[in-house]
Amino acid sequence: MKTALITGITGQDGSFLAEFLLENGYEVHGTIRRSSVDFRERIAHLEGHPSFHLHYADLGDSMSIIQVVSKVLPDEIYNLAAQSHVQVSFDSPEFTADVDATGVLRILEAVRLCGLARTCRIYQASTSELYGKVEEVPQNEKTPFHPYSPYAVAKLYGYWIVKEYREAYGMFCCSGILFNHESERRGETFVTRKITLAAARIAQGKQEKLYLGNLSSLRDWGYAKDYVECMWLILQNEKPEDFVIATGEQHSVREFCELAFRRVGIELRFEGKDADEKGIDVKTGKVLIEVSPDFYRPTDVVNLWGDPTKAKRQLGWDPAQKTSFKQLVNLMVDADMAKVAVERAGEQVRTNLVEYLEKGIVK
Ligand code: NAP
Ligand code: GDD
Repeated sequence: MKTALITGITGQDGSFLAEFLLENGYEVHGTIRRSSVDFRERIAHLEGHPSFHLHYADLGDSMSIIQVVSKVLPDEIYNLAAQSHVQVSFDSPEFTADVDATGVLRILEAVRLCGLARTCRIYQASTSELYGKVEEVPQNEKTPFHPYSPYAVAKLYGYWIVKEYREAYGMFCCSGILFNHESERRGETFVTRKITLAAARIAQGKQEKLYLGNLSSLRDWGYAKDYVECMWLILQNEKPEDFVIATGEQHSVREFCELAFRRVGIELRFEGKDADEKGIDVKTGKVLIEVSPDFYRPTDVVNLWGDPTKAKRQLGWDPAQKTSFKQLVNLMVDADMAKVAVERAGEQVRTNLVEYLEKGIVK
């Protein structure tokens, strides 16, 4: 039985990867951070599993990382922990650099200090944001990097330090250059989830309007559950190498909106340009989407499109056999429709209860 350590196990990818590794017979250890509210929603269903273990550690705290690595003695480490929001990285650049850049170094050094350099394989969650102000489309493993946010600059350090430790110390450490991947577990401030949640709320009368930033931004969006399998495949490869993981398809934020609203029965028409563009309900004429400069970024990455040929050839991972763009949008919208319906039912129960208490029907 292999032992894996996942940093960032409470995140979208961490939760899917933990499930995948448990299904494949791994002993899974994950790091969590202390927080004033317990936010383990994505992994709550795994707690109590005999092969699932949690430890406190923070990527900003070397000692906590050394402690957990020396205790777990992992065969594989998946370093998924990060301040992962690009827009937030403009507000918290130093924190982002500490966690997303130096944090990677801390993991690599912990492995060396614990004498595991020859045995432990390390996956680093790298990103298509490295291509940033893109120099070619589509982007592959040889495309030059041009990071375009504090987040991307920090992740670029992570990418190079992994490569350096591979070459300097012969360590089996690799970067997965993953393009955007989404799911029903995606954080609610990333654009896809923001849209699917708003579509569900608007359809059920719980929200009036959705405010977004750049509607023309292009992304290569895949399903997170399909992508965690690649993280594992990268570490099972014969040699330590870096891989681009993407669908090879590109869509705009606007297209994502159209599909998401169509799924809830609302046909959208877009009118106007740039900050004046609006998404209008064709049937009612109501404006449902508006642009707000609050969601513009000082520098925005607008043209990500991945070429996953190498992953297909060497890892046998074929995006054509995986979740399609339309399936992804639909599954996210369906999950949010159910979530909003449950919230509404809860509200109704509370309203009824208050009424019954007031009327003395229940005591
Ligand atoms: P996510 O949902 O934001 O999860 C991030 C995880 O990192 C959470 O578990 C978070 O813990 C943890 N974390 C944050 N700061 C930490 C710190 N100082 N110490 C320890 N843990 C910390 O992100 P995701 O979408 O799953 O992405 C996983 C990784 O892949 C990230 O490194 C991200 O940058 C990278 N990536 C993501 C995508 C994508 O499209 N999803 C694409 C390319 C690369 P809390 O729950 O306590 O906050
Ligand atoms: N978040 C957000 N909110 N983005 C918006 C909005 C909005 O209201 N309106 C338009 N966008 C645009 C952003 O400007 C960006 O061009 C695009 O939608 C995608 O934004 P996000 O969903 O926040 O994701 P991201 O591409 O910046 O970053 C994600 O993918 C990276 C991989 O390329 C994150 O998961 C990163 O951690 C990851 O590395």
